[in-house]
Amino acid sequence: MKKVKVNLKNNSYKVIVGSNLVNEENLKILKNKEVLLVVDKNVPSQYKELITKQLINMSSCCQTLEIKPSETNKNTKTLDKIHSKLIEERYSRDCILIGLGGGITCDITGFAAATYQRGVDFILFPSTLLSQVDASVGGKTAINHPQGKNMIGAFHQPIEVFADVDILSSLPDIEISNGLSEVIKHALIADKDYFSWLEINLKNITSLDSTSLEHAITKSIEIKAKIVSEDEKEKGIRKLLNFGHTFGHAIELYGKFRKFSHGQSVALGMLMAMELSREEEKFKEEDLNRARELIQEANPTLNLSNNFDEEKLIENMSVDKKRAGNQLIFIILEKIGKAKIKTDIDESKIVKAIKSLV
Ligand SMILES: NC(=O)c1ccc[n+]([C@@H]2O[C@H](COP(=O)([O-])OP(=O)(O)OC[C@H]3O[C@@H](n4cnc5c(N)ncnc54)[C@H](O)[C@@H]3O)[C@@H](O)[C@H]2O)c1
Repeated sequence: MKKVKVNLKNNSYKVIVGSNLVNEENLKILKNKEVLLVVDKNVPSQYKELITKQLINMSSCCQTLEIKPSETNKNTKTLDKIHSKLIEERYSRDCILIGLGGGITCDITGFAAATYQRGVDFILFPSTLLSQVDASVGGKTAINHPQGKNMIGAFHQPIEVFADVDILSSLPDIEISNGLSEVIKHALIADKDYFSWLEINLKNITSLDSTSLEHAITKSIEIKAKIVSEDEKEKGIRKLLNFGHTFGHAIELYGKFRKFSHGQSVALGMLMAMELSREEEKFKEEDLNRARELIQEANPTLNLSNNFDEEKLIENMSVDKKRAGNQLIFIILEKIGKAKIKTDIDESKIVKAIKSLV
């Protein structure tokens, strides 16, 4: 079991990574508390039962609310269901919400906690690789608006996060690939040795070897935690975590959230961002090739050649949040393990980066 501390001015917390994490010692913070468990309907029933049993034993009141996770359900209606349950069951300001599920469940549970009675505590049990390495850490909580993803939200940090590798064994391969996009992103922006380790160990991760999984999850969380600790509200350095996401979110929208998953969009977005890095920062072709190889290995079913309509993609970028005034923000790489923020990029270079995937 590993512990990673997210060091913040006011609300520091620990992320526990390992196996068999549901036990009385780990959950002692819930003793005699009113608890609402918000759970993703696709989490395996054994795990749900395990956690519910523990919560019933320890808490003063434990209710469960199951949600159907999809980007269309990550909305005010689902948020209202959670709030209504809390109000109907007379949960006090002292209650604790628990989110057990993928990134959608983590984001919506966090936002429900941020907004119920002006803010109550919450704990996360992320159940996808993506939510363990990314969505559960850092305190970004949100729901979607019909006109944009994650448009309504708040910064609200969890009080503890449990990334249990056991829960990943039921994940479909595509969800492992989705999580690996963020894992590769962390290595590319911050740690060349981690990138080299991934080149050697990716197969062990995709075959769900628990030691390799635990190492990768811990390493990724450490990278994210360090960045978030320096810039909780994304005024500067935290933007580095958006590497591949300016293009990626535009690709997700381009495919109407159906053709490309978030992880696939980020994978393609990172390739475009690295091509841009070649133009802007003399990022080496040799490094781009290494990254492309790793991205393809992590996403074996994804076709990396795509002829996107560049005008549409650039238009999609302009509705995204990754803007400073009128300028688009891009994260580009100087080399593997070193990223920087850029805003004043010539449109012709953006088009060239988009077309590099043809
Ligand atoms: N807050 C943040 O910092 C942050 C960062 C990255 C992504 N996100 C958000 O996270 C969401 C994506 O997260 P995701 O990729 O986890 O998607 P998700 O929550 O939709 O989960 C993916 C799928 O896996 C299923 N699932 C979950 N756990 C499972 C398990 N153990 N076994 C089998 N199936 C399981 C889910 O039901 C769902 O069908 C997006 O909405 C994105 O905006 C937030």
